[in-house]
Amino acid sequence: MSDASTQPAYKIIDHTYDTVVVGAGGSGLRATMGSAEAGLKTACITKVFPTRSHTVAAQGGIAASLGNNTPDHWQWHMYDTVKGSDWLGDQDAIEYMVREAPHAVYELEHAGVPFSRNQDGTIYQRPFGGHMQNMGEGPPVQRTCAAADRTGHAMLHALYQQSLKYDADFFIEYFAIDLIMNNGKCVGVIAICLDDGSIHRFRAQAVVLATGGYGRTYFTCTSAHTCTGDGGGMVLRAGLPLQDMEFVQFHPTGIYGAGVLITEGARGEGGYLTNSEGERFMERYAPSAKDLASRDVVSRSMALEIREGRGVGDHQDHIYLHLDHIDPKVLAERLPGITESGKIFAGVDLTRQPLPVVPTVHYNMGGIPTNYHGEVVTIGADGNPETVVPGLFAVGEAACVSVHGANRLGSNSLIDLVVFGRATGHRLKEIVKAGAAQDELPKDSADMALGRLDHFRNANGGSPTAKIRTDMQRAMSAHAAVFRTDELMAEGKVKLAEIYKSMEDISVTDKSLIWNSDLIETLELDNLISQASVTMHSAHNRKESRGAHAHEDYPDRNDAEWMKHTAVWFEGWGGKGGDIRIDYRPVHDFTLTEDAKYIEPKKRVY
Ligand code: FUM
Repeated sequence: MSDASTQPAYKIIDHTYDTVVVGAGGSGLRATMGSAEAGLKTACITKVFPTRSHTVAAQGGIAASLGNNTPDHWQWHMYDTVKGSDWLGDQDAIEYMVREAPHAVYELEHAGVPFSRNQDGTIYQRPFGGHMQNMGEGPPVQRTCAAADRTGHAMLHALYQQSLKYDADFFIEYFAIDLIMNNGKCVGVIAICLDDGSIHRFRAQAVVLATGGYGRTYFTCTSAHTCTGDGGGMVLRAGLPLQDMEFVQFHPTGIYGAGVLITEGARGEGGYLTNSEGERFMERYAPSAKDLASRDVVSRSMALEIREGRGVGDHQDHIYLHLDHIDPKVLAERLPGITESGKIFAGVDLTRQPLPVVPTVHYNMGGIPTNYHGEVVTIGADGNPETVVPGLFAVGEAACVSVHGANRLGSNSLIDLVVFGRATGHRLKEIVKAGAAQDELPKDSADMALGRLDHFRNANGGSPTAKIRTDMQRAMSAHAAVFRTDELMAEGKVKLAEIYKSMEDISVTDKSLIWNSDLIETLELDNLISQASVTMHSAHNRKESRGAHAHEDYPDRNDAEWMKHTAVWFEGWGGKGGDIRIDYRPVHDFTLTEDAKYIEPKKRVY
C-alpha cells in the first residue's frame, strides 16, 4: 500500500469498528453475536437480508451427539467425520467440532430455535448419511437434530435476534467488494450500498469472512443465486491461497431439472432410491448403510446407474426417490417443506408418486484455509504452512478448517457454522481490544475495489455478463462433475482460460449506481470465475480419487502421495491470463487432546 491514490472519484463514507463480519448466514451471525457479546463494536455487512441468507435453505438438521434417540458419543461422531472426509480432514479441528457440538446445539435451543421434539420433550434427532454407532460399525445413529425440514431457517431467525440483542450494527444489502490489506495484514473492507450506490470503507481490527460457498460456478446446484463465493474471490485477489478446491460435493437428491434440494432427511425418515428396473440399487453399492451411505458414495452410485442405462424418465437420466410408502402424517410433520417442493418443482405428490432426483452440486469442501479459531492461515515466506494472516478470519462454507476434508457428511455443515462462528467469537474476545486506536488507512486503500468497480461499470464490450456466466457454468458442469478424467479436466482448463479471457470483452449496460444488479452480478462473476479456475486446476492436479474427487484414471486413494491439502493461488489478474500456482499444506494427523485417538486411515466402505 502507498500514500498515493489513483482511485476514480467516488465519494467514500468511512466507518471504524473493532470487528467487521461479512455475511449474515449461520456462521456470520454466530460470529457477529460472539463479537458483540464480547463487548466489541461489531458491524455485519450482508448483501441480502440476514434471514434470507443461504443457510435458510438448510433443511435436514444439525449434527451433535446428544444421544436422544439412539446411543451416541462424540468419539463416534469424530470417527464418522474423519472417515467421511476420506482422511483429508484435520483431526484436531474435527475433535474440536464434535466435542463442542452438543453445547452449540443447546445454546441454539436456549436462543429459541424451535427444534422438533420427542415424546419426552428432548430434541428429535434423525439418521443421516454416514453417521453410525460404534466407531463406524453401525447400526446408523440418530444424530441430526431437526426443526422439521426447516432447520436452517429456524436457526437464522434465532441468531439474528441474538445479534441484535447484543447491539451489533447491520449494513443490510451492502456488497463487499475487496479487502483492505496493509503489509500482509487485513485492516478493513470496502463495500457498496446496493440501494443508493454509496461507497463505504470499513476500518477494523478484524474482518471475518462468512460469505458462503461458490456453488453458482455450476449450471445446476442447490445453492441460491447469491452463492457466488465473494469471500473466496476477495482472498484470491489479496494474493492469498484457497484450499482443497477440487472437492465439490454433489448432493444425491436435487430435484431433476430444477436443482432444488430434497433433504437427506427424506432418506433418514425411510425414503429410498430406485432405478428404471425398480431396484433398490444402493443395496449393491453400500450393503450395510444402503441409502444412508455418505453423499459421495450415493451420488456416484446414482451416476453409475444412469451411465449404465438404468436411469429413469424419457432420457434415462435421473433416479426415483420414494417416500410414498411413508405415513402421510409423518411426511406432514417431519418433511413438510420438501413435500411442498416436490409439488411446486416436480408436480409430484410425494404421498403417492416417486420424485425424480439427480446428483446436484451442493457444497464446497474447499475454501479459505483457517485454523480451528477461525484465523485465516497461509504458507508463510519461511515455508510455515500454519502462518496466520493478521486481522483476517473466515467461517462457514467460505472457510476450509478443514473438518470436511474430501467429503462432508450431511448435517455437519450447520454444526460447523455455529461451532466455528462461536470459536471465532472467542478468539476475537482474546485478541481484539475494544475501542483500541487503529492506524490511519493508506491513501490508496480503496484503489483496488474502486478500480474494479469503475472498470466493470464502464465496460462496453460485446459479451453480456449472463453469457459469460453461462459459459463458465456449462464448462464446470461438463468438465468437473461427479466423475472426472485427465482429458476432460485438461479440456476444462483450456475452456475456462478462454472464458476468463472473454471477461475483457464484458458489457455492463446499466451505468447507474442505484440498485445496479447488472454491475453487482458482474462483480460476482469476477469472484466466481477465479474460483472456477482454481477448482479445475486443483482437480486436474490431484492424481488420485478421494471423497468427492472421483478420478477415473486414478480410481484409488493414494495416501502416500496425496494425503495433503492443496493450496492454490490465482495470479495474473486484469487480463494477464489468470495463472494458477499450487502448493500443499499437511493434513493434521494429530488430535487436540489425549481423549481423542488419531484415527488411522483405512479403506472406506459403508
Ligand atoms: O440434505 C440436507 O438436509 C442437507 C443438509 C446438509 O447439507 O448438511
